[in-house]
Amino acid sequence: MKIAVLPGDGIGPEIVAEAVKVLKALNLKFELETAPVGGAAYEAAGHPLPESTLKLAKQADAILFGAVGDWKYDTLDRPLRPEQAILGLRKHLGLFANFRPAICYEQLVGASSLKPELVAGLDILIIRELTGDIYFGQPRGRRSAADGHFPGADEAFDTMRYTRPEIERIARVAFEAARKRGKKVTSVDKANVLETFQFWKDVVIETHRDYPDVELQHMYVDNAAMQLVKAPKAFDVIVTGNMFGDILSDEASMLTGSIGMLPSASLNDKKQGLYEPSHGSAPDIAGQGVANPLATILSAAMMLRFSLNQPEAADRIEAAVKKVLAQGLRTPDIHSAGTTRVGTVQMGDAVLKALG
Ligand code: IPM
Ligand code: MG
Repeated sequence: MKIAVLPGDGIGPEIVAEAVKVLKALNLKFELETAPVGGAAYEAAGHPLPESTLKLAKQADAILFGAVGDWKYDTLDRPLRPEQAILGLRKHLGLFANFRPAICYEQLVGASSLKPELVAGLDILIIRELTGDIYFGQPRGRRSAADGHFPGADEAFDTMRYTRPEIERIARVAFEAARKRGKKVTSVDKANVLETFQFWKDVVIETHRDYPDVELQHMYVDNAAMQLVKAPKAFDVIVTGNMFGDILSDEASMLTGSIGMLPSASLNDKKQGLYEPSHGSAPDIAGQGVANPLATILSAAMMLRFSLNQPEAADRIEAAVKKVLAQGLRTPDIHSAGTTRVGTVQMGDAVLKALG
């Protein structure tokens, strides 16, 4: 078993180091190999996703990814920006199924921006399609009025599109996942306005015929955004397209207290996966030793469960995280009165110790 470790930018290296520490302590047989990605790779090799990094990622059974991005790269040509690394990995490896669970840990109920009774016991799973939609649709670009294009003004455009197989396979992932949980899927669309999402809805309904034991509900994305803060516990599994999933998963993260707690998994049809915290590179706090490593540590647990076939090890990590929270240890993002403030490394050490 081989794990590609891609720490990336900002807080990426700090939080990945803690997850690696925890993985190593499990004494399992796997090989770890580190490579640069994102802005770090641009600095080192002139490209955010160098050939050698992509090759390593393709060979690996799983990828542990930190985060990419920094404001200082915002003026680079788009193909050279750090974000292209994660988009490229998703596309090249066919990582179409993105799992973003939003679980509110008992001890963190008070850290949520919502009232405790709305989030206590929250356990929802957002399944985001990750390799299609307006993120990758062609054509895209800019045209200048000087070139004589209609409508006679400078313009930019992207294309929202989905094929039937793309929708069907992500719908199946959602129905299968729901079978193992609350047996309810909410498909989020914008069928009232967009052709792409009327088609999405139609294909989800057709696919649902194979899953009569799972309840299917449809919701427009604007309403879904509202329901997520009004009655989040009414959801079980949410399935949606790439862009709506990007937005709704950030929203859902806040229900749990901190985006610093949320892991994610992106899988292809061979169960090869990329595992990363749902949060970004947070350049504003990079290098200060205050970032919350738990989302990355929990991502490593998802990796053990989904790609490396080590469910017991995954359970051990998740239990250890609950234990350190119960001990009252908190990084600044989840800190509140009466708890103990710790830094990134101390939090990682505490999880290590709690593994037993
Ligand atoms: C995410 C991020 C990425 C996305 C960015 C960094 C390209 O926001 O994983 O949610 O938009 O998918
Ligand atoms: Mg996002």
